[in-house]
Amino acid sequence: MARVVVVGSINMDMVVTTDTFPRLGETLFGTRFSTFPGGKGANQAVAAARLGAQVTMIGCVGADAFGEQMKQTLAREGIDVSHIRTGQESTGIASITLSGADNAIIVVPGANNELSPEDIDRASDAFAQADVILAQLETPMDTVLHAARRAREHAKPFFLNPAPAVALSDELVSLTTLLTPNEHELATALQTPSGWWAEVLSRMPGRIAMTHGKEGAYFTHADGTLVHQPGFAVEAVDTTGAGDTFNGAMAAFWHLGMAEAVRRANAAGALSVTRAGAQGGMPTLAELEQFLSQQS
Ligand code: RIB
Repeated sequence: MARVVVVGSINMDMVVTTDTFPRLGETLFGTRFSTFPGGKGANQAVAAARLGAQVTMIGCVGADAFGEQMKQTLAREGIDVSHIRTGQESTGIASITLSGADNAIIVVPGANNELSPEDIDRASDAFAQADVILAQLETPMDTVLHAARRAREHAKPFFLNPAPAVALSDELVSLTTLLTPNEHELATALQTPSGWWAEVLSRMPGRIAMTHGKEGAYFTHADGTLVHQPGFAVEAVDTTGAGDTFNGAMAAFWHLGMAEAVRRANAAGALSVTRAGAQGGMPTLAELEQFLSQQS
């Protein structure tokens, strides 16, 4: 069983379903409103836990009903929530507009912005015991960088999902064992021209697993050879959290090697879009194995 520490955001997702996205200045009727647990960090923690990893979450919520609810949701998944601190701001929220299987998201980070380097240091025991440390960019950059430095001190693999996309410092890139962007995030994170992803992957062999929506994912072998892991065909209901599922699965399956981890993460990501909510469709290990056994 892999031991995974997730450093990241915890949000309540406020999801409006509509037939078409509104244009600027336009008011439309939606068809449904739902709340779902979310946040890239929490989603990745849940994905890894459902796939059998032993997960510790380091995060920050508000002293409000959403914060309590989110902690209980994570605890019910078997995640260690003892390093989730209650801050001064309100719990992070994401306003999500869903049309068909596509989404548009605005995140208000709230308490996620209070996650500090001290929170990382308070969890040093968890770092010492971890097999993988996994972070995203919905918490402050200095905290993410601190986590990467601590991971290096503990000689642990540090995975960074560079989402939402920002340019990364050379230090953070050099401390990252595995970067898991989509095509757009890769160009922004490494400040490379868009469309250059194959060259970038070849220049950083074994250090990037790039998701590519329905097409699956790409990575490079140690010798720089580009590998395409094709996507799995499924009926998409809600694509929110597909990337997070991929990330949680990569951490949970890293010990199986890059190729097998990407194959399983791809399948887990595909299954995750078949139900509503970022965490709704994330498969258990048994569900994933059954799905893979049905593929030819
Ligand atoms: O990646 C999906 C997540 O992004 C949502 O759950 C939302 O909270 C935003 O953080």
